Amino acid sequence: MRIASSPLLLGLYAAFAIPAGAANVAPPALAETAAVPAEKPAWVAPDLNALPDDVYGRLVREGRDLIHMTSRFIGPEVKNKKLRYAGNNLACSSCHAEAGTLKYAAPFVGTFADYPQYRGRENVVQSIEGRINGCMERSMNGKPLPTDSHEMLAMTAYMKFMSGGVPVGTEVEGRLTPKIKIIDRAADPAKGKLVYDTYCAACHGGHGEGQRVGVKGDTLGYVNPPLWGPDSYNTGAGMNRVIQAARYIRYNMPKGATHDAPILNEEDSFDVSAYINSQKRPVRAGLDKDFPDRRQKPADAAFLPYREGFGAEQHKYGPFKPIIDARAKALKAAK
Ligand code: HEC
Ligand code: HEC
Repeated sequence: MRIASSPLLLGLYAAFAIPAGAANVAPPALAETAAVPAEKPAWVAPDLNALPDDVYGRLVREGRDLIHMTSRFIGPEVKNKKLRYAGNNLACSSCHAEAGTLKYAAPFVGTFADYPQYRGRENVVQSIEGRINGCMERSMNGKPLPTDSHEMLAMTAYMKFMSGGVPVGTEVEGRLTPKIKIIDRAADPAKGKLVYDTYCAACHGGHGEGQRVGVKGDTLGYVNPPLWGPDSYNTGAGMNRVIQAARYIRYNMPKGATHDAPILNEEDSFDVSAYINSQKRPVRAGLDKDFPDRRQKPADAAFLPYREGFGAEQHKYGPFKPIIDARAKALKAAK
């Protein structure tokens, strides 16, 4: 259902029409809810080529470039020290593949239409700028972009463009990363190393170091991003959680795998996720302040304080089902 053709919304507009000479009459009460389609809208990745080369079109394209080649503009190697917001040479595209246009690789199609949104990690209703900065500080191991900066405006303009035609308050099929069947045992980093060496090392390197476009210091970033080590995401990133990374990996890696044609099975996805996330990477301080409403804390958030009855090891590698059940119970009891 498109907003413009909704009879219900047209009806609302009619109710707001101000009758002639009615300046002193109290305004009619506002309806509290707008119609929201019951079904998820279909996937449409808008075509950037359709945008004219005007002020708006140029800003949207700039936002796309910032997202696709982040290290060239705000990475740790750029000349202007004030612009070194990102702490690693990843791009947003290192995870939000192909500038957020790839289904199930946490794309930006429909994202703009779903913010502001409640976020358990901060326990607040968060703006899209706040969410971008969540990835800036964790996945990019950097500093938040000022909300009123040109770069933030360009990125949000691109995200708005990517949500063109998606009704506000809806979620598009293919957004975020797909749900994955949780395995019954703990994920095993030793088994994961075998998976890694077979399916991943050719692109991501024997030591997870990735493959640079050029050389260190040139700001050009990576052809294949590093998965651990000093130039990777930090311990506060979503990708550092074993279930979250397994979801991403199963439906996107090795590169070319998709939601409809995955290459790894669930067990291999969990094991390789555990292997990657058992390696050294930048440490984010203050994780104990995440999920201030403790009931919200996901099963795979392996930092203090742990859920009652479960330890560090189980939060990191599983078995996750008992923790997922405990979380669901706690949330239900609170209702
Ligand atoms: C290391 C991987 C990684 C990098 C790099 C990364 N992100 Fe993310 N981002 C994620 C993951 C994982 C999620 C959550 C996906 C989910 O919930 O399934 C996410 C979610 C988001 C969301 C919310 C998406 C939605 O539809 O609600 C936004 C916005 C976002 N990231 C912006 C950015 C921006 C902008 C950059 C670059 C400055 C960036 N991210 C870099 C991994 C990354
Ligand atoms: C053919 C090369 C190739 C292979 C093989 C491959 N990847 Fe990737 N990987 C990429 C590229 C390129 C990206 C950047 C996102 C994109 O373009 O899809 C990426 C992104 C990622 C990311 C998110 C970025 C980050 O820095 O964390 C993870 C995690 C990942 N790959 C894990 C794996 C795992 C695990 C395997 C093996 C099962 C694997 N990849 C195999 C090319 C590859």
